[in-house]
Amino acid sequence: MTAKLLFQLDTDSTPSVFDTVVAYDGGADHVIGHAGITKESVGGLVEGAIFTRGAKDKKSTALFVGGASMVAGETLLDAIQAKFYGGFRVSVMLDSNGANTTAAAGVALLAKASPLAGKRAIVLGGTGPVGMRVAAMLALEGAAVTLTGRQLAKTQHAAAAIGQRFGVQIEAVEAPDDAARARAAEGVAIIYAAGAIGHQLIAHADWQSMDSVQLVADVNPEPPFGIGGIGAGDKGRDYQGKLAFGALGIGGLKLRLHRACIGKLFERNDLVLDAENILALAKEMA
Ligand SMILES: NC(=O)c1ccc[n+]([C@@H]2O[C@H](COP(=O)([O-])OP(=O)(O)OC[C@H]3O[C@@H](n4cnc5c(N)ncnc54)[C@H](OP(=O)(O)O)[C@@H]3O)[C@@H](O)[C@H]2O)c1
Repeated sequence: MTAKLLFQLDTDSTPSVFDTVVAYDGGADHVIGHAGITKESVGGLVEGAIFTRGAKDKKSTALFVGGASMVAGETLLDAIQAKFYGGFRVSVMLDSNGANTTAAAGVALLAKASPLAGKRAIVLGGTGPVGMRVAAMLALEGAAVTLTGRQLAKTQHAAAAIGQRFGVQIEAVEAPDDAARARAAEGVAIIYAAGAIGHQLIAHADWQSMDSVQLVADVNPEPPFGIGGIGAGDKGRDYQGKLAFGALGIGGLKLRLHRACIGKLFERNDLVLDAENILALAKEMA
């Protein structure tokens, strides 16, 4: 039996422990972490992965791209794929900061609760890796998406980057505090909080009083939560007609999805797991 080797290529200075644990739980026999990987330094590592095993056994070697920056991860994924040719390739997954799996799990749970197409959605604190993937996935599901951040230029930059990668239109709104975020959320059906850990982004009274709001979701697992007044374990809990999903309610599916993705990497040698197919898998699993 050929050992299943996962090379964890991290753009940060140390490989993520979270990603290492999930890699083993997802079915890798050995996980080999490499830190500080850039598009300049990745070439030799990819050559080692693609030129070593014969066609039958190549599927037992796979690559995982992680790290805090989705932009750095996307750049690395492009550099890795540029090295592949013909049958000389192995499967690879991009999940910088857990952004693809976390965003996909939340969006899949929302889509299961209620159709997203044609609805207005707002992603609060959406300029980080998770928020940018959430915005992209909501837009791919047919929602009209607004992204908020505390500074206009950074928020516009994030919206433009999503548009360029996914071919969708995202509106950028500067919203430096809870009151500004509540104003930006007026009239939306979906509020998704994707801000930094331990920061509230909208007060309970504000979203609860909005007639238009049907679904709220939050991926911040540490109090105060991003959406005031909800519970971390909420998974479709009804707050006077509005369904809420908290970080742990989303996190269960995120972990199952992340493990399932790792397992899929070893089924063939030409899979590229990124936002679109990770979201599709999440919707199957939700
Ligand atoms: N549940 C899960 O399974 C899971 C998995 C992974 C991550 N997470 C959580 O998902 C969330 C998003 O992750 P991430 O890596 O994308 O987050 P991040 O990059 O750390 O932060 C996201 C955004 O939050 C905003 N922010 C930072 N400090 C703030 C403050 N004091 N007040 C308001 N906004 C602030 C920033 O936007 P601006 O500077 O533009 O305002 C930042 O771009 C985090 O809470 C993380 O813990 C959950």
